[in-house]
Amino acid sequence: MAKAAILSGLEQPLEVRDIELEAPHAGEVKVRLAASGVCHSDLSVQNGTIPLPTPIVLGHEGAGVVEEIGEGVTTVKPGDHVVLSYVPQCGNCYSCKRGQGYMCEKAGAAVTGGMLDGTSRVKDSDGSNLFVMAHLGTFSETSIVPEISVVKIDNDVPLKLASLLGCGVQTGVGAALNTADIKEGDTVAIIGCGGVGLNAIQGARIAGASEIIAVDQNETKLQMAKEFGATTGINATEKDPVSAIFDLTGDRAGVDVAFEVIGLQKTIEQAMQITRRGGETILVGVPRLDVNLTINPAFQLVYTGKTVKGCWYGSSNVQQSVPMLLDLWKKGDLKLEELISRTISVNDINEAFEAMKGGEVARSVIEY
Ligand SMILES: NC(=O)c1ccc[n+]([C@@H]2O[C@H](COP(=O)([O-])OP(=O)(O)OC[C@H]3O[C@@H](n4cnc5c(N)ncnc54)[C@H](O)[C@@H]3O)[C@@H](O)[C@H]2O)c1
Ligand SMILES: [Zn+2]
Ligand SMILES: [Zn+2]
Repeated sequence: MAKAAILSGLEQPLEVRDIELEAPHAGEVKVRLAASGVCHSDLSVQNGTIPLPTPIVLGHEGAGVVEEIGEGVTTVKPGDHVVLSYVPQCGNCYSCKRGQGYMCEKAGAAVTGGMLDGTSRVKDSDGSNLFVMAHLGTFSETSIVPEISVVKIDNDVPLKLASLLGCGVQTGVGAALNTADIKEGDTVAIIGCGGVGLNAIQGARIAGASEIIAVDQNETKLQMAKEFGATTGINATEKDPVSAIFDLTGDRAGVDVAFEVIGLQKTIEQAMQITRRGGETILVGVPRLDVNLTINPAFQLVYTGKTVKGCWYGSSNVQQSVPMLLDLWKKGDLKLEELISRTISVNDINEAFEAMKGGEVARSVIEY
């Protein structure tokens, strides 16, 4: 039995109650969660931006301790500490072999809300099957996850900090280090400085960007952005970010790399506008499925030599990037503690969603 936060339908508040878990099947692992971050993508399932079946255990940014392993599991054993990857990465498929673990062919099953074979391991208090987000469902004290969704880490890394590597850090830092091609001395802009955007900012700093322009509508986030490496902040409620960035970049008319980390049509269009000729626009925010763009290919792509690139999970190969990110953290180059605005109990999950809607927090982290 485990206590979990369940979404029963669109726009419903989450309900916290006990669930039953099966033993892990072959190739699966039972993990006792130590912590789970609350990401905007969880809220996006509740409001329908990311369509998933319900009732579902949300949460996809977690870390914990392996409690039990299923048949054939070789990479971890009970007692091991692990970060959970919201993209399973098999290491053997066409994408994984080409260094695109974030596009692993096994990952498609996540839309079913089940395990890799589409079936469920979790039952509600009335005995009916529950879905889980991203094969993980980290808003639960315990979870059954695929072996290829866990990354073993050293036991001395605080699991509360490690949980953030499951999504926000991996995605944001990866967007800057892997998806984008930031060169030493580049000027970059980040639109949206939440839990993911702040990580794109620190990733840009690590990649060697010299000017980092942060755009948000919340003054607290702009303050945090500066702590994470931003050199300039633009409050989008006070100034039009596009003309402000044209003013800042002079004749170059835009930044070398622009990141959109919200998922709105308006801010995606802004990110494309503020990208200089020959520059890159990196789309990280997840828009609603009915958001479409009108692009003039001659002026916005061909004559201007611009690249627009989608970023899924920071274009990361987790088995390599998790240890790399932890090394950066140990050297003091990567901020993790500073991302945690609030530590909460799973019972406070709806308040955490409200705080996120209000733009008040970088990350709320559930501690189990
Ligand atoms: N591509 C991926 O792999 C991936 C992974 C994780 C999250 N995401 C997505 O990234 C996005 C950000 O996630 P998050 O957890 O950082 O969210 P968040 O809610 O913590 O941050 C969003 C930020 O955007 C700001 N904002 C909102 N509207 C704005 C506007 N019009 N102009 C300027 N600023 C505005 C808010 O104040 C807030 O600081 C979401 O869409 C999420 O689904 C994508
Ligand atoms: Zn996320
Ligand atoms: Zn694969």
